[in-house]
Amino acid sequence: MDNKNERGFSSNIGAIIAAAGGAVGLGNIWRFPYVVGQNGGAAFLLMYVLFILLLGIPVMLSEIIIGRRSQRNLVGAFRTLAPKHKAWMGVGVLGLIVAFIIYSFYSVVAGWTLNYIVLSCNGQLMGKNPAEITQMFSSFTQSSFWPLLYQIVFIGITATVVILGVKKGIEKSTTILMPLLLLLIIVMCIRSISLPGAEKGIKFLFKADFSKLNADSFLTALGQAFFSLSIGMGALITYGSYIRKEDNLFTTSLCIAGADTLVAILSGIAIFPAVFAFGLNPTSGPSLVYEVLPNVFNSMHCGQLFAIGFFILLAIAALTSTISLLEVVVLWEIEELKWSRRKAAILSSLCIFLIGIGCTLSFGPLQGFKIFDLTIFEFFDQLTAVYLLPIGALLFTIFIGWYLPKTDVYDELSNGGKLKVRYFKYYYFIVRYIAPIALLIVIITNIIFD
Ligand code: PHE
Repeated sequence: MDNKNERGFSSNIGAIIAAAGGAVGLGNIWRFPYVVGQNGGAAFLLMYVLFILLLGIPVMLSEIIIGRRSQRNLVGAFRTLAPKHKAWMGVGVLGLIVAFIIYSFYSVVAGWTLNYIVLSCNGQLMGKNPAEITQMFSSFTQSSFWPLLYQIVFIGITATVVILGVKKGIEKSTTILMPLLLLLIIVMCIRSISLPGAEKGIKFLFKADFSKLNADSFLTALGQAFFSLSIGMGALITYGSYIRKEDNLFTTSLCIAGADTLVAILSGIAIFPAVFAFGLNPTSGPSLVYEVLPNVFNSMHCGQLFAIGFFILLAIAALTSTISLLEVVVLWEIEELKWSRRKAAILSSLCIFLIGIGCTLSFGPLQGFKIFDLTIFEFFDQLTAVYLLPIGALLFTIFIGWYLPKTDVYDELSNGGKLKVRYFKYYYFIVRYIAPIALLIVIITNIIFD
């Protein structure tokens, strides 16, 4: 093992797995299938992949450059790279706020996974009809005590890993958890495509019907791509600062984006054939995974075992992502506020839980409390995916494309001239022109049409 890098990850593969673990999450397994289902399947998938290639990878690379060049937390990174223009630090502060908001609603759904692990282990999911399963989901999410308890347990597990540190906690746990996740999802895929009638689901996912697309699906695809890749808030600035100076940033980003896209597509393959094979509805929305899949498990041989496996998979995916969200805040507190790692992780987790209470209760007692006609949970989800992540991404690309000297960008990508970066002119053209213009159009369209 290479221990030259005191600050961060011990190897390139460790960095890739940790960052891919941060990117692969509920966004891929819970959110991706239901937005694909609601937006007509394959044509949407194609658009999503195009956004990842054209905007996702360049924005990701830009964040990693900012992180590794500065070797600092989200706010410190901008202070180090733009010492004369303190306003850029505001971009870092915005990222911190977004981390708090995402974590507070994300931890609600992450907590649900724990409840479903318990339910599937003690057999309570089995032998129920679809109406009973739906009823079970809503009475659980509407009750206040259990969802809050599971939420705080999840936040506690995340804090424990983060307290252990970058190498021993984050890198080590994700290197064990990610291969396990991949294995579990492949088993689910095999089971799903071997069901009678599975072809319909495969067709839905891969045979494009462009007539189903509209302007809204365009924006949804972009929001989904950004949320899934964890870009636009600086999670990859923090993880980028842990990447060793000798690692190739371009191949690193390709691997992270590739792993994230692969898991999203595999989740689609695991879910849609099963949905169609059992004659269920692919457009049922955010409850798809929780309400539809238990029916599938119910009608399968060894269904209980698959249910346990699946919800453990979902919890693992969520955990490696909440770790990345908490680390963003913790590194800032360690470096800027001079707190210890333990104090930073505990205090931030408590604060996130306090905000998260509102998100959990928005399924129950606070259901009627609306902001712009949305519950607190829906408002936080929309605010981040639809506005704040694209705004963050726009600011990061402007910073790389227009503020940081071109020679510095080249220097960081080529590891001080050691690597050949033949793709540089394309990358630079995208971050300087294409990405900012495209993102500006998206943000303005959102503001006008919402
Ligand atoms: N990418 C994560 C997921 O797919 C969510 C996330 C978004 C995590 C932004 C960190 C930052 O679940």
